[in-house]
Amino acid sequence: LRQHKIAVIAGDGIGIEVTAAALNVLKAVEARLGTFRLVFDEFDYGSARYKATGAYAPEGWLDHLATSDAILFGAVGDPDVPDHISLWELILPMRQRFQQYVNVRPSSVLPGIAPHATAAAVAGLNWVFVRENTEGEYSGQGGRTHVGSTLEVATDVAVFTRGGVERCMRYAFEVARSRERKLLTVVTKSNAQRYGLVLWDEVAASVAMDFPDVKWDKMLVDAMTVRMVQKPHSLDTIVATNLHGDILTDLAAALSGSIGIAHSSSLDPTRANPSMFEPVHGAAFDIMGRNIANPVAAMFSAAEMLRWIGEEEAAVLVERAATQSICGGQVTCDLGGKLSTVEVTRVVCQMVERL
Ligand code: IPM
Ligand code: MN
Repeated sequence: LRQHKIAVIAGDGIGIEVTAAALNVLKAVEARLGTFRLVFDEFDYGSARYKATGAYAPEGWLDHLATSDAILFGAVGDPDVPDHISLWELILPMRQRFQQYVNVRPSSVLPGIAPHATAAAVAGLNWVFVRENTEGEYSGQGGRTHVGSTLEVATDVAVFTRGGVERCMRYAFEVARSRERKLLTVVTKSNAQRYGLVLWDEVAASVAMDFPDVKWDKMLVDAMTVRMVQKPHSLDTIVATNLHGDILTDLAAALSGSIGIAHSSSLDPTRANPSMFEPVHGAAFDIMGRNIANPVAAMFSAAEMLRWIGEEEAAVLVERAATQSICGGQVTCDLGGKLSTVEVTRVVCQMVERL
């Protein structure tokens, strides 16, 4: 029997509810197929642990996680902890340490979903965002001097390395090549950001030479938001920096119906380190503990994880089951339905058993 060691970090807020849902679906597909075994290693890393012990995770946690085949992540964030602390204690160190240098975020309008009213034009859209995931605006470099005085200077330095941009760009061209339309849009702000993002433009042009079959164009990020809303069908694969990708994928998720179904994969394509699979949404403490969070993003993340570890058949089953629950209107309130998190999970598990 093929065996896979999965590290599970549910984290905070609705991360706990939706990760539990995803685990149930994973167990259902494992039982249904009987061709592989998932060994779950569940960790209590998160804000509750921080508030009780002063640390999000015990010492050596990253070394420990390094031994897993993949990481399933929920969400991090807590009303009592400043976000810049919680994020830099848990999620961002994993992306950096494990060189998960691309974050892949597909966005499509599934049949049966009524897209956002102002964006009916997006019906049928199907995009893949490739977000640079280890450097750029999220480098963590910078600092504050003269704190609190009128002379205070605070900097966040966006660091772009040629190697870092190139590996991400190459991955994006490969994704574009693998899709029917072979169309890539490179997003920057190289008119205002004159060093790092000019490097992006240069790297795009040079990598493009190795992909003569891929059509590509460049967009400035501000104009890109307009194009996503007004000409969504002119886009297919999109590559962007860490921060631009963060922002654009929230817009994409909203356009496709709900951020509750948007999933993402933080990948180390070299496979030297474990990759991580996580919903695009955050901890959402406004709705946590109420059994109304949409578990589908976590389920799609789990499906993508199955694909990554080589369990394609299981991945397809989970995707089909979750998609069918949506098409059948068996959805949570963010999609206009009446079902709870637990009810949607039950529906999807039953479909996994029957499909
Ligand atoms: C995301 C989130 C994260 C990010 C936060 C939680 C650090 O917004 O995955 O999109 O900005 O990358
Ligand atoms: Mn985000």
